[in-house]
Amino acid sequence: MFLLSILSMSKITFFIVLLIFILIDLYAFQSFRVLFSSKIIRYVYWFISIVFYIIFLHFSFTFSPTNIKTFYFQFVIGFFALLYVPKLVISIPLLLEDIYRFFHFTFSKVFSSNSVSLERKKVVSMLALGIASIPFLGILYGITKGKYNFKLITQKLKFKDLPSNFNGFRILQLSDFHVGSFDNIDKVEKAIDFINSQKADLVVFTGDFVNLIAEEMLPHIDLFSKINSPNGVFSILGNHDYGTYAYGNDQEKLQKNRELLLEINKKLSYDLLLNENRKITKGNQHINIIGVENWGKAPFPQVGDLAKASEGISNEEFNVLLSHDPTHFDEKVKNFHKRIQLTLSGHTHGMQFGIEIPGFIKFSPSQFIYKKWAGLYKEKDKYLYVNRGFGYNAFPGRVGIWPEITVIELQSESQA
Ligand SMILES: [Fe+2]
Repeated sequence: MFLLSILSMSKITFFIVLLIFILIDLYAFQSFRVLFSSKIIRYVYWFISIVFYIIFLHFSFTFSPTNIKTFYFQFVIGFFALLYVPKLVISIPLLLEDIYRFFHFTFSKVFSSNSVSLERKKVVSMLALGIASIPFLGILYGITKGKYNFKLITQKLKFKDLPSNFNGFRILQLSDFHVGSFDNIDKVEKAIDFINSQKADLVVFTGDFVNLIAEEMLPHIDLFSKINSPNGVFSILGNHDYGTYAYGNDQEKLQKNRELLLEINKKLSYDLLLNENRKITKGNQHINIIGVENWGKAPFPQVGDLAKASEGISNEEFNVLLSHDPTHFDEKVKNFHKRIQLTLSGHTHGMQFGIEIPGFIKFSPSQFIYKKWAGLYKEKDKYLYVNRGFGYNAFPGRVGIWPEITVIELQSESQA
């Protein structure tokens, strides 16, 4: 929603942003000018940039937070990323080279001849273009393929207090559908077939059905109702499901949005948990699935009520909590007086961008916002798993942080 707040700024802000784009363009153009003598390449460079300026201006002057045209919005974000991330990468070495030249000129009595300087500029430009091709190709892949590059992640978690009948119980977690973003339903359908082929004991969905409004789900009810398990599908709401990004403070519309989403959950045969819990029974034993409404730090809704959601549960039971926003874990869950052995969250999407090589690198700009942004965490002998999300939002792609289907197998320490 950071993006939405930027887009809600004054039109003057847009002109400042546009000016920054033009400056990046002028800088990156230096490398094209040095390396390519063909006028066509130069014309194409500026033609694409001018098309972007026109689209950007049109978008900014027609943008309304209460009437976002999702695909146009995503197109502008995607076009921007594809064009300006690589250009920014090109500009950095050229800027450094200019700084070097400036100091060399100022402090050296013997200034290099123009030919040497031009030669160096060519080498720097070639290097800059080579480096910039990496984010360009990465973003191009992320927009065309990466956003549907679903990954199955399996986790086996051991617990001291897991009821023995649940040893080997498999929970499949999905999060952040953001159905309004999908532009290739065949790929989503294949992913849903794959989900069902996992034959998990239970499926849970940890919030953000939609981007803006409940209606986004309507064309997809048949498809998403195919997701099933022997113990059903439990769901919760995420910050995007409350309709506030579309309807602001209009209580009547917010209420209608909520009612429609509740009705949709019924049609999906998902058991939507709104600060409540359910028992899953195996033989004479059970575990509890607790679901809270969204609890996040401002500006996100803080309507999750763990005390209410866990009513009727004693401290000796085995509890799995569904809570959309992982900040809830640090702020409330890990110190809650009733023991929550496992919390399942989503929300961060790992910013849909980063690098992950298991055992070596785990990086995403998401980590500068969320302490716990993807994967497994354990604190105070309680687990938190943060799913990277099934869909995508705002940026119409995923680079390095792929869409995720998680299967968590509960294991009893004594029986493993
Ligand atoms: Fe989300």
